[in-house]
Amino acid sequence: MSLPKSDLTKQADGRTTMELGPVLPKTADVRDGHLFIGGVDMVELAREQGTALYVFDEADLRDRMRQYRESFAANYPNAGVLYASKAFLNKEVLRIANEEGMFLDVSGGGELACAQAVGFPMERVFMHGNYKTEAELREAISAGVGRIVLDTRLELARVSRIAGELGVVQKVLMRITPGVEADTHEYIKTGCEDSKFGFTMLDDFAFKCVGDVLGTPNVDLVGFHCHIGSQIFALHSFVEAVQVMAKFVARVRDEYGLYVEDLDMGGGLGVAYLADDKPSSIAEFAECTANAVMEASLEYGLPLPRLLVEPGRSLVANAGVTLYTVGVMKTLPNIRKYVAIDGGMSDNVRTALYHADYEATIANKADQPRTEIVTLCGKHCESGDAVVLDGSLQHADLDDIVCVFATGAYCYTMSSTYNGQPHPAIVFVRDGQARVVTRRETYEDLMARDV
Ligand code: LLP
Repeated sequence: MSLPKSDLTKQADGRTTMELGPVLPKTADVRDGHLFIGGVDMVELAREQGTALYVFDEADLRDRMRQYRESFAANYPNAGVLYASKAFLNKEVLRIANEEGMFLDVSGGGELACAQAVGFPMERVFMHGNYKTEAELREAISAGVGRIVLDTRLELARVSRIAGELGVVQKVLMRITPGVEADTHEYIKTGCEDSKFGFTMLDDFAFKCVGDVLGTPNVDLVGFHCHIGSQIFALHSFVEAVQVMAKFVARVRDEYGLYVEDLDMGGGLGVAYLADDKPSSIAEFAECTANAVMEASLEYGLPLPRLLVEPGRSLVANAGVTLYTVGVMKTLPNIRKYVAIDGGMSDNVRTALYHADYEATIANKADQPRTEIVTLCGKHCESGDAVVLDGSLQHADLDDIVCVFATGAYCYTMSSTYNGQPHPAIVFVRDGQARVVTRRETYEDLMARDV
């Protein structure tokens, strides 16, 4: 449960913001009691566009992409940053990622198609997934993706066959499960031994498979990948993963004579969902990861590989918010107060799925103290349907506009149309302008595929 926090702070640049620290998008401020993002009044925007509504602070998004690129460039001679598009995908975010010089992680044919639709340079696209279908592999190889990240020997055989049929040699990485226990939610841990992802190091399996990949035609093994999990605060988990991977790479050099070009350390940097959360900064993450790779390379006498990372959440989570309209209030004496909003698990399933925490404010009362503890529940036919469980909020009245912060990652991409709820629109705000980048779904859209 988060404590009421309401005091406004005057920032050095003259903006007045809420005491929500790193949870807020960078350009958030409060003017005459209204929440503004990107210079746009969230209350007016909600009235114009309707709710539920996803809103992204474009300056914040671009700024984080630049921070990633610049922090790695400052700490390492040859690095690349892949945007993990599973965190938030539409055409506009991919156009921006391309403009900002990102590489791209796609984990299926749909994400790849979106990248193709905006002309994302295919050599900067990496295809992931523990089961890429035959069709998806064919789409990726014929599109000319830069790397396919192999997950199994079965997939190796498929990639080799398809590449042969298409008359190309496909560059591949092998995904290794480094056995590092990252300190995060059970469901989003991926690097530990018991995982459906990657080649396990148990019984030296991954190492033996390197020989298989090297002996397979039409594929060119250029490096290794790992991803230890998501929403990780403790940087030492990344350092441990680098050490395991570097040791592996050194053995591959010693026994197979292969010098690795790419070391892809995956994503996973955590973000602030609550005002008191203190995640590491992008700069700290870059410095720590880069140093770990340089130290380990020195230790094993390895030439420095190209260092790749694949952030998703830490690029988009805090840039995005969701706006809702309050429609129902219900107080259960000595139990809790429910405030119902016109969305819920359809646009943000993370609370129902992971008991995720969020901060919220009433956008038309943003200068008032958050004096009540309420559960912001959705409108769906399910008891677990809530966006904020026992969180602080100002006293809510009908038609108030509620803003839930840090909903930019894994909300839209995990959304559904449960109970026939159309997907919300997505608006990007910047310099006082708002533009719809994904329109609201209509009832006709909901039925468009039914025959
Ligand atoms: N690379 C790979 C191979 C991944 O599997 C993921 C995320 C990323 C990069 C990006 O990780 P990030 O920087 O966003 O932590 N639905 C969950 C998160 C699942 C993450 C899956 N993989 C949630 O809502 O918290």
